[in-house]
Amino acid sequence: MTAGVRLYRLLFRTLLVRVDPERAHELALGLIRGVAAVPGLSHAVRATLGRRPATPVRTRLGRAVPGVLGLAAGMDKDATTVLGMDMLGFGYVEIGTVTAHPQEGNERPRLWRHPAEQALRNRMGFNNAGARAAAERLRRLRSTRRGRSVVVGVNIGKSRVTPVEDAVGDYATSARLLARWADYLTVNVSSPNTPGLRDLQAVDSLRPILSTVQEEADRAAGRHVPVLVKVAPDLDDDDVRAVADLVTELSLAGVVATNTTIAHAHGPGGLSGPPVHARALEVVRLLRDRLGPGPVVIGVGGITDTPGARAMLAAGADLLQAYTGFVYRGPAWPGSLNRALARSRPRG
Ligand SMILES: Cc1cc2nc3c(=O)[nH]c(=O)nc-3n(C[C@H](O)[C@H](O)[C@H](O)COP(=O)(O)O)c2cc1C
Repeated sequence: MTAGVRLYRLLFRTLLVRVDPERAHELALGLIRGVAAVPGLSHAVRATLGRRPATPVRTRLGRAVPGVLGLAAGMDKDATTVLGMDMLGFGYVEIGTVTAHPQEGNERPRLWRHPAEQALRNRMGFNNAGARAAAERLRRLRSTRRGRSVVVGVNIGKSRVTPVEDAVGDYATSARLLARWADYLTVNVSSPNTPGLRDLQAVDSLRPILSTVQEEADRAAGRHVPVLVKVAPDLDDDDVRAVADLVTELSLAGVVATNTTIAHAHGPGGLSGPPVHARALEVVRLLRDRLGPGPVVIGVGGITDTPGARAMLAAGADLLQAYTGFVYRGPAWPGSLNRALARSRPRG
C-alpha cells in the first residue's frame, strides 16, 4: 500500500466516517472537480497520483485505455467529473446510471457505510439529471481534446416513471440521446433500487431492450457503438449463462459483472465492496467460459487491492472497475493499482 493510500485510510477512519456518507460523496466529487479545473494543480496531480503506466492497454471496445481499472457506474452519475477521474489515474470512466427522464432518486438516507467489511450499501434509485442533461455535458466534454482523449462508457437505466412494459422505449430514448458521445454503452438491468428492474434480466425481456438499444445507438451515432449489459451477482448460474448466450446471439460487445448484491442482512439496498467479490469472480468465470474469448467482460465487485484485481483478470475479465475500493482507499489508489497491474502485465 502506498503512503498516499495509507494517509487517506487514516483520514477516512478518523474524520471522514463522521461525515454523512452522501455529503462526503458530494464534497469529494466537488473537490476532485475543483482540482481538475485548475490547470497547474491538475497537471501536478496527474503527474503524481495519476501517473500513467508506460504502455496503454488495447481493448476490444475500439480504443486503448491507459490502465485496466476504470471507475464503475454510480459515482459520476451526471458526467460532471470525468476529467477529474481521469486525472486520478482511472483508465476509463463509466458515467451514469442515466435515465431518459430526470429523477430525484429515493429519499435520504440512501447510502450507508459498513466499515468493518469495507463495504457500502445504497438504495440511491438512479438520482440523475436525465439523458438530455448528460448528453449536453458530454457534448461539451467531447468538444475539447482532453475530453475526447478519455474513454467514456455511458450506463443507461429505466426511468422510475416508465412502466416495466414500456422499458424498451425508455432505454431507446437514452441510447438515442447519448450514443454519439459514448465509447460504449452499458445497459443496466441489475440495480436493486428501481422496482421491477432486475426482472428485465430474463432473456425474453432483455432481448428486445438490447437489440433496440444496439440499433438506436448505431443509428444515432452513425457508427457501431459497443453495447454491454450489466448483470447482478444474485442471478443464478443458469441465468448468467442465458445472458451470455443472448450476448452471443445478438453479437453484443460484452457484459459488465457485477452490480451490488441484495443477498445480505444489513438492511435495505444493494451491498458493494469485499462482500460481493467472491460471487463477482464466479460470475466473470461463468461468463468467460460461456462467451469464449471474443466478447468483452468487465469485472467489477469488491476489488480493493492488486491480488483481487489480478484474480478478476485471471477469472477472465478484460477490464476492471471499482467504486467502493476507491471510497475506502482514496485518490492515490486508482493510479497506484493501475501501475501495479501494468508491472505484472505480459508485454506485447
Ligand atoms: C453508492 C453506489 C451507487 C451506485 N450506483 C450505480 C448506478 O447508478 N448504476 C450502476 O450500474 N451501478 C451502480 N453501482 C454499482 C457499482 O457500479 C458496482 O457495480 C458495485 O458497487 C460493485 O463494485 P464495487 O464493489 O467496486 O463497489 C453503485 C454502487 C454504489 C456503492
